Amino acid sequence: MNESYWILNSSPKKYEKLGENIKVECLVVGGGITGLTTAYLLAKEGKKVALVEADKVGYGTSCRNTGKVTCQHDIVYSKIEKKYGLDKAKSYYNANNEALKLIEKIISENNIKCDFQRIPSFVFTEKEESIKDIKDEYRTCKKIGIDCEYYETINDIPLDVKGAIHFSNQGQFNPKQYVDGLAEVAVNLGLKIYENTPIVDLEKGAICRVKTGDNNIIEAENVIISSHSPWYDGLNFYFAKEYAERAYLMVAVLQNELPEGIFISIDDPSITFRQCNDENNNLLIFGGGDHKVGQGGTEEEIFDDLEHYGKEVFKIKDFKCKWSAQDNMSFDNVPYIGYINKRENNVYVATGFSKWGMTNGTAAGIIIKDLIINKTSDYKDTFNPSRLGSYFSMDFIKENANVARNYVTGKLKIGSGDMPKSSGEGKIVNIDGKRYGVYKDDRGDFYIVDTTCTHLGCELNFNSEEKTWDCPCHGSRFDYKGNILEGPALKPLKLYGYGDNDVNPKLL
Ligand code: FES
Repeated sequence: MNESYWILNSSPKKYEKLGENIKVECLVVGGGITGLTTAYLLAKEGKKVALVEADKVGYGTSCRNTGKVTCQHDIVYSKIEKKYGLDKAKSYYNANNEALKLIEKIISENNIKCDFQRIPSFVFTEKEESIKDIKDEYRTCKKIGIDCEYYETINDIPLDVKGAIHFSNQGQFNPKQYVDGLAEVAVNLGLKIYENTPIVDLEKGAICRVKTGDNNIIEAENVIISSHSPWYDGLNFYFAKEYAERAYLMVAVLQNELPEGIFISIDDPSITFRQCNDENNNLLIFGGGDHKVGQGGTEEEIFDDLEHYGKEVFKIKDFKCKWSAQDNMSFDNVPYIGYINKRENNVYVATGFSKWGMTNGTAAGIIIKDLIINKTSDYKDTFNPSRLGSYFSMDFIKENANVARNYVTGKLKIGSGDMPKSSGEGKIVNIDGKRYGVYKDDRGDFYIVDTTCTHLGCELNFNSEEKTWDCPCHGSRFDYKGNILEGPALKPLKLYGYGDNDVNPKLL
């Protein structure tokens, strides 16, 4: 798998895996910015908190993004105003602005070295037909009271900008250094972190019993699910109320000067970019090529296109690294943060950040801490995961028709009779009339897995850049040995000879 620039240049602390049964007041599942912010705030309130992470702290989407810390989220405020009214759009802004301030406060109070700086942010279009969308967004932002300006163009960037909104005083940082620093600060407040500790089941109750992959039991008064895709659904059908997208980023040495700022276009294809420095160079982090997980072009083609774009537009010669990340998208642009459903008031969820997880994830920490400590939050209704109408839209209908189509077409692809020939190649192969995924590794060994997704039974596709099996339905991903990389699937793929995969019986 390609690692992000931030992860490659980090030296994080390691945490032990959980090796015994434990009892806590609050259990946080997921070691990204959301889980760590929630755990930090709860530990600061004197709660006994444990955080478990299936992999390592800060190795997921939290540290695979551009490191923009901004309340400017593409075109969002005009859409929220149109669907829910101005008050909800204002509430979304206030939550994200509070999150931005909290991040800055945590960094300064704890002296976390993560290159945080306040910086202007721009959203723009290069298309005449999209100027209206930019102007609508600007009008809503002004009504909310955001410190912003409308620009006819942006000088000194090599793009033909036709309209832009400038937000003052936003931020950027190194997300991995921030997340690692936040983990250490929270540990000093009493938080216990356990890495390599996947969760496989949850038994609800006044005291929840949560089971790990090693059969240890964690008893917790409150459980916070901050693991990107919720592994426990609470029959609130998150897998149908959001969809997963992959996005692509590259880092390269920037030869030409660019103005200070963080930038994103609203066009299709979109482009996002910002600058940062290493010891010797001014670097450009840029990306695009977003598509639904398990669908769209191959990752090699997308990276080739991005590289070509970087050479043509930014005159880049020296590319440093490239990686991709996965995001969960809600249908109404508002994340799901709060009680997992209307019935359970001690299980919490935070998901659907729609690519803006730095501030939305931090806002989730503030909201969930307030729900646990004060039983309410100023932002409870805006982000309520059970809000009415969050997913009734043409996009929801189209997306779930797309899931059904992928389910059926996947079953019809029975695969070829030939094994992969080259190292690093993966393909669908028909063995004894059944569909398997076969990967040939660098030593020439074959890994053969059942490719029926253990979430709800869609058929997986091979991702040739990451060497993973990706689900086109709700975004679960598995490595070529069958281990889970991304949920909502809870069970790994079985190797050939070990029977059929166990599809989640609770959801079925
Ligand atoms: Fe839902 Fe695969 S992630 S079926």
